[in-house]
Amino acid sequence: MTRRVAERIISIGGGKGGVGKSVVAANLAVAMAEEGREVVLVDADLGAANQHTLFGVEKPGPTLQSFIDHEIESLEQARVLTKVPRLTLVRGASAVVGAANISHTQKGRLLRHIEKLEAQVVVVDVGAGTAFNQLDLFDLADLKLVVLTPQLTSIQNAYAFVKGAVYRTVQAVLKQHGFEEVLASKAELAETARLEVLLQATFDCSPKVEAEVRMALQGFKARLFGNQVQDAAESTVFRAVARMLNDFLSISAPFLGFARATRALHDSVNRRRPYLLDARHDESALALRQTARVLLDEPVAVPPTAQSAVATAAA
Ligand SMILES: Nc1ncnc2c1ncn2[C@@H]1O[C@H](COP(=O)(O)OP(=O)(O)O)[C@@H](O)[C@H]1O
Ligand SMILES: [Mg+2]
Repeated sequence: MTRRVAERIISIGGGKGGVGKSVVAANLAVAMAEEGREVVLVDADLGAANQHTLFGVEKPGPTLQSFIDHEIESLEQARVLTKVPRLTLVRGASAVVGAANISHTQKGRLLRHIEKLEAQVVVVDVGAGTAFNQLDLFDLADLKLVVLTPQLTSIQNAYAFVKGAVYRTVQAVLKQHGFEEVLASKAELAETARLEVLLQATFDCSPKVEAEVRMALQGFKARLFGNQVQDAAESTVFRAVARMLNDFLSISAPFLGFARATRALHDSVNRRRPYLLDARHDESALALRQTARVLLDEPVAVPPTAQSAVATAAA
């Protein structure tokens, strides 16, 4: 059994590429370090890593790929310094074809080592897509931040992504009790049905399963952050998504704030310097800092082996 070391794990996902998950993850990590926390940012986008570019850390050295290839024994050894005091980075594998195709065993080892990172806060930048690798990296965290834009395609992908993550979590509980067919056999219904409705018959026949599923759903702490907002009125859509997640998936996923689409945020990428490092005080910077504080203040109950549910789902 793995001893959990990381005090707080926050995953950043959203299903869709290009919405700003990495930019948001980088700036939240900066804001958390500026709040005085010891932070490690893990670039777990296995197919298209770019945190090293966002931070301008491109010298040779160990990366997550070195860990996957067993060139280093622990993920801890892949931590490199950034310009930001208290913030270290585990760089991803950007130029390796096939890097995204890690095996089940490799994934299990990666998840265990993320939990063992010695830091007050571990921020995990989860890549795009809804494959099990992304869902399990997202589910691992105590707090799960979904980054989405007001565009319909982003909302659709974010919903599908969270749904995949919630179903996987629930499936892990059902499987422990031999009920794994309940969701699997209703795949076509699941498109539109509420999770509660799909599970009703199972709940009726086993109060124990009901209690455990409800506990898992309560422990699924998702949060929403809007990005690339053009007009503040657009941001009402994020509250609608929060309601939809609550109604259909029975999880609480409050909307925490949004950043606007701005030239300055866009340019920070080419300058290889996270936006917040220049002591910004505009609306987007304030929203990012405020979101970082909320994510730091939220109580988390760190399980002794947080990985067990994921391991069961994946078995
Ligand atoms: N708030 C924003 N304003 C302007 N441009 C942004 C903003 N957020 C992201 N971008 C642009 O979108 C690009 C993709 O963002 P990125 O964080 O890499 O997306 P993801 O990680 O979701 O694939 C960035 O390179 C940047 O140019
Ligand atoms: Mg990214």
